Amino acid sequence: MNSQRIFITGASSGIGEHLAYAYARRGAILGLAARRIDRLNEVAETCREAGGKTFTYELDVRDEEAAKRVTHQFLKDAGGIDIVIANAGIGGKDQLGSGDPAHINRILSTNILGVTNIVVPFIPTMKNNRSGNIVIISSVAGFRGLIAHGGYSGSKAAVRIMAESWRFNLARFDIRVTTICPGFIDTPIVDNRSFLPFLMKADLAAEKIIRAINRGKKTYIFPWQWRIVVPILRIIPDWMIKTFTAR
Ligand SMILES: NC(=O)c1ccc[n+]([C@@H]2O[C@H](COP(=O)([O-])OP(=O)(O)OC[C@H]3O[C@@H](n4cnc5c(N)ncnc54)[C@H](OP(=O)(O)O)[C@@H]3O)[C@@H](O)[C@H]2O)c1
Repeated sequence: MNSQRIFITGASSGIGEHLAYAYARRGAILGLAARRIDRLNEVAETCREAGGKTFTYELDVRDEEAAKRVTHQFLKDAGGIDIVIANAGIGGKDQLGSGDPAHINRILSTNILGVTNIVVPFIPTMKNNRSGNIVIISSVAGFRGLIAHGGYSGSKAAVRIMAESWRFNLARFDIRVTTICPGFIDTPIVDNRSFLPFLMKADLAAEKIIRAINRGKKTYIFPWQWRIVVPILRIIPDWMIKTFTAR
């Protein structure tokens, strides 16, 4: 079997980094993108030791033109694309009281435009090949507006709904769209939080995500406990949300 050509954003840390290691062990050709190029090169070195071939790209996913350039470069470097994983993302509070929209806008642009900027340029090639897999990292936080994190919840809901729409469009070209909705995964993004139910290690999370992709899942919520919590989260009254997310 030929090596899979996989492009991952946010590969310098956390889930993206562990996806890179897991795919490297499977002998993949990897395109790794993030802003911290030094850190990315360290990840790439570990991937090579594990058996993967790597190309690294210093990229801010909010930059539309740079994202186009990088995706086209990866198509040349790797000779095509099989899977694109739009994983780069940031958390943080809205800081509504500051009167400055910069905080929330940074979250929205990274988590939403960071997906469209990376995924859309790969679609013409996938259409021509009549194959490909688009993977979008959403979150369980995208099923209800959580206190002080409206930007984050809103961004993760937006990409989940976008993926749902794209799935309809792209199925006829045999392009699959998988939306991943993790609960709490042990990465730097959750460093300052004290309440982390069902916390999962990033290496295990990466394996679970790859399994969901391979099985052609449309939406994958994990760890499994969240598949019970999410439907409840969607219908419980506001006062419960306040109690649940104010911790
Ligand atoms: N950990 C969780 O509990 C959890 C739960 C649900 C969903 N998620 C989602 O999972 C994804 C990965 O997060 P993580 O937990 O692995 O957090 P992380 O360890 O903080 O990793 C975030 C990654 O995104 C990259 N990134 C951030 N802003 C970027 C930008 N403007 N341009 C390019 N790359 C950028 C970072 O690289 P640079 O800083 O080097 O650019 C880093 O590699 C995110 O979308 C997050 O929302 C995480």
